[in-house]
Amino acid sequence: MDAQVQLSQQVQTQTIQVPELPDMESKSPEDVLKWALDTYGKKVGLSCSFGPEDVVLVDMLAKITKKPKIFTLDTGRLNPETYDVMDAVRQKYNIKIDVMFPKTPTIQKMVKAKGLNLFYDSIENRKMCCQVRKIEPLNRALSKLNAWVTGLRRQQSVTRTTMKKVEWDESHKIVKINPLIDWTREQVWDYIKKNNIPYNKLHDAGYPSIGCAPCTRAIKPGEDERAGRWWWENPETKECGLHADPTKLAKAVQPAQT
Ligand code: ADX
Ligand code: SF4
Repeated sequence: MDAQVQLSQQVQTQTIQVPELPDMESKSPEDVLKWALDTYGKKVGLSCSFGPEDVVLVDMLAKITKKPKIFTLDTGRLNPETYDVMDAVRQKYNIKIDVMFPKTPTIQKMVKAKGLNLFYDSIENRKMCCQVRKIEPLNRALSKLNAWVTGLRRQQSVTRTTMKKVEWDESHKIVKINPLIDWTREQVWDYIKKNNIPYNKLHDAGYPSIGCAPCTRAIKPGEDERAGRWWWENPETKECGLHADPTKLAKAVQPAQT
């Protein structure tokens, strides 16, 4: 390994101290969010894709604080319906949303080298596209925070079964808060309907889980709720890196120099 890289890694591991975190497994999502706001104040933000879990969390946050910190990753490949729900939520709750965009020169380099729909060609290409369009903007958003809130649920995927309500995120070196981790899909939808929350219209057209347009399709009756995400891959590789355990997944590849 390059000596300078090794040194910077050592410095990083020395300076970041893993905080002691409370066991919040028996607490309600609202209590977890209140604790997060009391503990981290302006340094905690919701990472919001405007999926069903995320709009529930927006509603809960807006009932606790007037100015919730919310950011979204606009990959440039989202469905029009996702932009519609983004604006509907923004207007209903009168909140500001930080939209994070990928870096233009990196996108241009990647597309020039690999094409626009590179993700269908190989898992390596798919991870590269996610790295450029999602992970790097996520890292930029997280660099300003001490904790982030997600809409993850254990039932969503084999890769999510061991996650907790409050945990240390080793990949990003900050605290990760998953208030709905033990909720079922039914609980999420009950909450949406009861509270009249805007949601992505694609959910009514057979899309239970929505990511980027070219990497999401409707599912057939009886299929797993994430079967329409990166449908050409197997379930063990179906993490784009936002929530991937770096020790279990292949490393994302940087676009080659041109
Ligand atoms: S993904 O990694 O497979 O794309 P998924 O769609 O299940 O994730 O969403 C899980 C959580 O990741 C969401 O509840 C949200 O917190 C975060 N997330 C996913 N996509 C985005 C996005 N585009 N912008 C912000 N947060 C996102
Ligand atoms: Fe690219 Fe698909 Fe990943 Fe979106 S989900 S960033 S389009 S590979």
